[in-house]
Amino acid sequence: MNKTPLILWYEKHGRHDLPWRTTTNAYHIYLSEIMLQQTQVKTVLERFYFQFLDKFPTLESLSSASVDDVLKAWEGLGYYTRARNIHKTAQLVKNKLPQTPEELLALPGIGPSTANAIACFAFGINVPILDGNVKRILYRYYKTKVANDKELWQLSTKLFKPNFNFAYEHNQALMDIGSSICTRTNPKCEICPLNGKCLGQSSPLEYPTKKAKKKKEVRERYLVIYTCNHQVALFKNESNLLKGLWSFAQYSDELNESEYIYKGELKHEYSHISLRARVYTKEVEQKKFDFWFDEESLQNIALSKADHKALALLS
Ligand code: ADE
Repeated sequence: MNKTPLILWYEKHGRHDLPWRTTTNAYHIYLSEIMLQQTQVKTVLERFYFQFLDKFPTLESLSSASVDDVLKAWEGLGYYTRARNIHKTAQLVKNKLPQTPEELLALPGIGPSTANAIACFAFGINVPILDGNVKRILYRYYKTKVANDKELWQLSTKLFKPNFNFAYEHNQALMDIGSSICTRTNPKCEICPLNGKCLGQSSPLEYPTKKAKKKKEVRERYLVIYTCNHQVALFKNESNLLKGLWSFAQYSDELNESEYIYKGELKHEYSHISLRARVYTKEVEQKKFDFWFDEESLQNIALSKADHKALALLS
C-alpha cells in the first residue's frame, strides 16, 4: 500500500522526539496517554512525565506505592481520578499491561480512544483513535456539523482504512495536526496534508456546530485553616473533583467572623467552577480533629492548588 500524504507529512513534520514516541516501554506509553487525556503536551513534558517516572519507574514500583504518594506526584496536574486509576491499574495488571483494546478498555480510567491509542502505540495493533482533536478533524474533513460517538467512530475508521498498515503514523499524525494545524479557532488549512481532500476546508470554523457555552458555577466558600502548636488540620477530600487529596476545612455557610481570623480571599478556576473562598485561621485544641501536619510533613502530601493558595495567605 502506498503512503498517503498524511503519512508522508508525519514522516517529515511529526513530533518524533516526544519521549513517549521514542520508547517501546508500554508502561511509559500508557502513562503518557493518561496524562495527555486532559492536559497539554507542554505541561506534561515540562512538569510531570519525567518527574513521575523518576518516582515510579515501573508498574511494579507504582503498584507498591501508597495512593498518597501517587497523588503527590500528580499534584498540580488536576483530574485526580486519573492518579487513583493508574494506581489501581498497576495493582490489577501485575507488572504487565494487557495488549488488546478490549482488555485495556476493562481497566479503570481507560476509555475506547485511550484503549486504542495504547494498543496501537505500545503493542502495534492497527486500530483508529477518537480523542477530542481527532473528532474536530473528522467533523471538518467530512463536513459534518453534528454527530454522535458511534457516527464519529465510523468516520474515524473510514479515514483510517487507507493507512491501516501505518496505524501508528496515522494516529500520531492526527494528534499533531489536531494540536498545531486543525486547531479550534485558527485552522491552518494551507499547510495541512489533508488539504485537497478535506470537504470542510473552505469554511472549517463551521464544523462542528458550536455548543452553547455552559455558564460556570461561581462557588462561594469559607475556608478555615485550624491550627494547633504550629500544625494545621487537614481533611481527606471526598468531592469528585479532588477525591483523595488533603484539604483545609471548607464551609458553604457564612462563619461568625468574631471567632476566626480573616487572612484574605482566594480565587481559583476549575474547568466548570469558579471558586471564591474567604480564608480564615482559628487556633483550636488538638483533639478536635484527627489529622495534623507540621510545615515539613505538608511538603510530602498532595494539596489542591486552591489549598496551596490558602496556605500562601498565612505567610
Ligand atoms: N495526546 C494524546 N496522546 C498523544 C500522543 N501520543 N502524542 C501527542 N499528543 C497526544
